[in-house]
Amino acid sequence: MYGYFDYNQPLFRPPSEAQSLIFQITLGCSHNNCTFCGMYKMKNFALRKVDEVAAEIAAIPAPHRARVQRIFLADGDALVYPQAGLVAILDLLAENFPALTRVAAYASPNSLTTKSVENLRLLREKKLRILYFGLESADDATLKLVNKGFDSAQMLAECEKAKAAQIKLSVTAILGLAGRQRSHEHALATAEWVNALSPEYFSLLTMFRRHNDAHFELIAQLSNGEVMEEAVEIVRNLHPHKTILRSNHVSNLFNLAGSYPKDREQIIAQAEMALVEAKRHPNWYTLVPDYEETHF
Ligand SMILES: C[S@@+](CC[C@H](N)C(=O)[O-])C[C@H]1O[C@@H](n2cnc3c(N)ncnc32)[C@H](O)[C@@H]1O
Ligand code: SF4
Repeated sequence: MYGYFDYNQPLFRPPSEAQSLIFQITLGCSHNNCTFCGMYKMKNFALRKVDEVAAEIAAIPAPHRARVQRIFLADGDALVYPQAGLVAILDLLAENFPALTRVAAYASPNSLTTKSVENLRLLREKKLRILYFGLESADDATLKLVNKGFDSAQMLAECEKAKAAQIKLSVTAILGLAGRQRSHEHALATAEWVNALSPEYFSLLTMFRRHNDAHFELIAQLSNGEVMEEAVEIVRNLHPHKTILRSNHVSNLFNLAGSYPKDREQIIAQAEMALVEAKRHPNWYTLVPDYEETHF
């Protein structure tokens, strides 16, 4: 957005933060051990100093700062930043960006364990309004296989803390993560977990290659058709109380969008129609998804 300071590459942000100004308050990921995730494998986890963030803010001319409404805190689980420092950073943002409406961050399950509900309430008061959380799967055998470090019940308890603090949650799960071995269990458990939490947002990504070859040795990779069947099984079992589904990641074979409970039947119909269409292309149906990221 601005050319006043350099980012430590690679830098990632959710698609919905495309218009946000980004500050890297951490580098890498405090866990960095999920088999499927190569996003931060090339980085050693580190906290950046509050003074470094302050210097980056100061480098932005005041007229530009005045126009910033949204800020995203990177890298992979910026919520892990120690509470006192995170409060200091949020105070700096509020002081320097007069039009700021919301701050967002990635939050791993590990990062949520470092914050109490009271801590999270204070962060919310200081404009931390949404956390992006990678559930990946709620099938415990799959979570263990991929080294997520937490089981589904632990992750539910951690996310419920954010909910109690009225911080919005955007949760992602990965189609194809469990391979053919546990596709069915992965689909059912994931839908049930989302029903239990009813996060504000839920999206599906599709397993792709990026510094994670070892993960593909753990699973029998799903074909395009099997990925779509898994998606259909998930949406047939989804009935959260109030959740927006927006599944539009570049890795996906088809997009899904709608709001629960209102659009439930329409979402199922969207997924089933995509599956019917896919079956008309038997060669494509049996191929494995070919999207991969090789630039980092
Ligand atoms: C920065 S993390 C999200 C926040 C946090 N680190 C966590 O794990 O909860 C980015 C998300 O991208 C997704 N992801 C990472 N590598 C992927 C891959 N190879 N294929 C599909 N999704 C992937 C996962 O859902 C992961 O949670
Ligand atoms: S999925 Fe999240 S917690 Fe796991 S290694 Fe990637 S960034 Fe870290």
